Amino acid sequence: MEEQMVRTACATLRADDVGQGVRLNGWVHRRRDLGGVVFIDLRDRTGLVQVVFYPESGELHALASGLRPETVVEVFGEVMARGGQNANERMPTGAIEVKASRVSVLAECDDLPLQPAGSQVPQEETRLRWRFLDLRREDMRRALETRSEVVRTIRETLHSEGFWDIETPMLTASTPEGARDYLVPSRVHPGHFYALPQSPQLFKQLLMVGGAERYYQVARCFRDEDLRADRQPEFTQIDIEMSFVEPRDVMMVTEKVICRAAAIVGWELSAPFPQMTWIEAMDRYGVDRPDLRFGLEIGDITPAAAASEFVVFRQASQEGGVIRGFCVPGAAESHSRKKLDGLTARARELGAGGLIWFKQSGGKISGPAVKALGPEKALELTGALGAGDGDLTLIVAASLEIARRVLGALRLEMAAAEKMIPADRHELTWVTDFPLFEWDEDEKRYFACHHPFTSPEDTDLDRLESDPAGVHARAYDIILDGTEIGGGSIRIHRPDVQRRVFAALGIGEEEAQSRFGFLLDALRFGAPPHGGIALGLDRLVALLLSRDSIRDVIAFPKTTSASCPLTSAPGSIDAAQLMELGLRLRDDA
Ligand code: AMO
Repeated sequence: MEEQMVRTACATLRADDVGQGVRLNGWVHRRRDLGGVVFIDLRDRTGLVQVVFYPESGELHALASGLRPETVVEVFGEVMARGGQNANERMPTGAIEVKASRVSVLAECDDLPLQPAGSQVPQEETRLRWRFLDLRREDMRRALETRSEVVRTIRETLHSEGFWDIETPMLTASTPEGARDYLVPSRVHPGHFYALPQSPQLFKQLLMVGGAERYYQVARCFRDEDLRADRQPEFTQIDIEMSFVEPRDVMMVTEKVICRAAAIVGWELSAPFPQMTWIEAMDRYGVDRPDLRFGLEIGDITPAAAASEFVVFRQASQEGGVIRGFCVPGAAESHSRKKLDGLTARARELGAGGLIWFKQSGGKISGPAVKALGPEKALELTGALGAGDGDLTLIVAASLEIARRVLGALRLEMAAAEKMIPADRHELTWVTDFPLFEWDEDEKRYFACHHPFTSPEDTDLDRLESDPAGVHARAYDIILDGTEIGGGSIRIHRPDVQRRVFAALGIGEEEAQSRFGFLLDALRFGAPPHGGIALGLDRLVALLLSRDSIRDVIAFPKTTSASCPLTSAPGSIDAAQLMELGLRLRDDA
């Protein structure tokens, strides 16, 4: 048989290819010796194929017998049918195998610190230290492939909608998105610093002023903030901006993008996605990113509860607080006193004074507050939260803010503990009508809920100075299964409104001019009304693949302490470099 010179991808071979000569390149995934016959599962990025070496082949067989896992080889051979019992239905290539006629080692492999073929997921520290080996694991291969497909689909969708892909600077001035900046010292201007962009927000607005009308970018963003499973110091946004639009226009494009991206993993989503206001989200779910895959909705029983004999309820109401709770269907029985003590401790940890619980079973109601309330009142209150026989009810009496926070967190924790979250259900919702400003009690000043360039509702303009807390924003977030996967808004396009918003945020005229003078300038010269959104690509892909952490869908992520075990970044720099930059480290640094 003539040797095939063109490479064939391992996992593409099927029964139809029997009799073909092939050239394969890849890694030795696994080797087995069975009765003198050597089997090698050869792996490339498409998957596995079995290569077989018979003892009759002499030297070839001897070489195969010594091949270590992860050695890189080139194999020439013939595709053979794997008859009857030898076929492996679990492998896409399981109907065939390749009988090797020649093999050469292209690269040796040392003792492995991490087994790409292993069935167990290695420790994360090891995975990140040896990321190039970790990337060979099937999970990571699939993540990179899916991510690439998602980006391709999003690009195609946006191009077909008339968007231009425009790059914005990485070395720039600070854009406030609520986190600390990563700074880059300038050599040419000693003592001066660039900031890496927290987002391309201001540049995309300037592009609208520049007449681009429809812009997008697969944009890297940098934020020095506390890290979590869904936060990385550098991450990727699908950043979008459009001129002459209303929120619905931005939502429609976003919905198209998300539906197409989700179709890659077989999800069938339908647009338009539902919407709820911020107030509704906060009241019914306790958070501004509600997970709608399960019930456990929070209800308010303040008036009825305050009109009881129970001092905790009366007091909370007198102090201007609320009495709210939710019922967990069928959970009365499974919640021992110990478990309930645990929940109470958790509620305290989250800021509540305590947790009032009721269990209903056999027509009776029990719980620490039943005595004070009387069983009838207790049943009335739990009934108002939808509870019946067999159910557990959890109630918090606290300030509005604390009640929302505690119940919002307990709702999620109960759903997880009670296994109430269906794995194959996915729920999207827009959250709209955010407040424009958030009061910070520690700093005694307002912050922008999104960023300072978000437009207030036109109808609220005259309240910017008199009642900032009551001003609504023309902002919208998109939530998937309880995770914020994107956020955007209609922007301020009038310089006078932008100045007033800066003033409400405590940014004086001088500071506004020095930090954002270029924006205020741009708004003076025919800025079109505009708005947009940014989707968190890493979060979207992680959810599509049901991964717990966005680290699992980023090729080279940082640890939760923002370091890279692979390259040892961040690292120190030498004295000459510091000198050149005009910098000196403090002795205690
Ligand atoms: P925002 O700050 O809401 O908006 O960011 C948009 C989306 O980016 C994702 N995201 C992150 N993902 C991973 N790690 C992080 N540290 C991180 N921070 C944010 C989230 C989030 O919803 N300029 C505005 C957008 C706009 O108004 O158009 C912005 O950046 O999924």
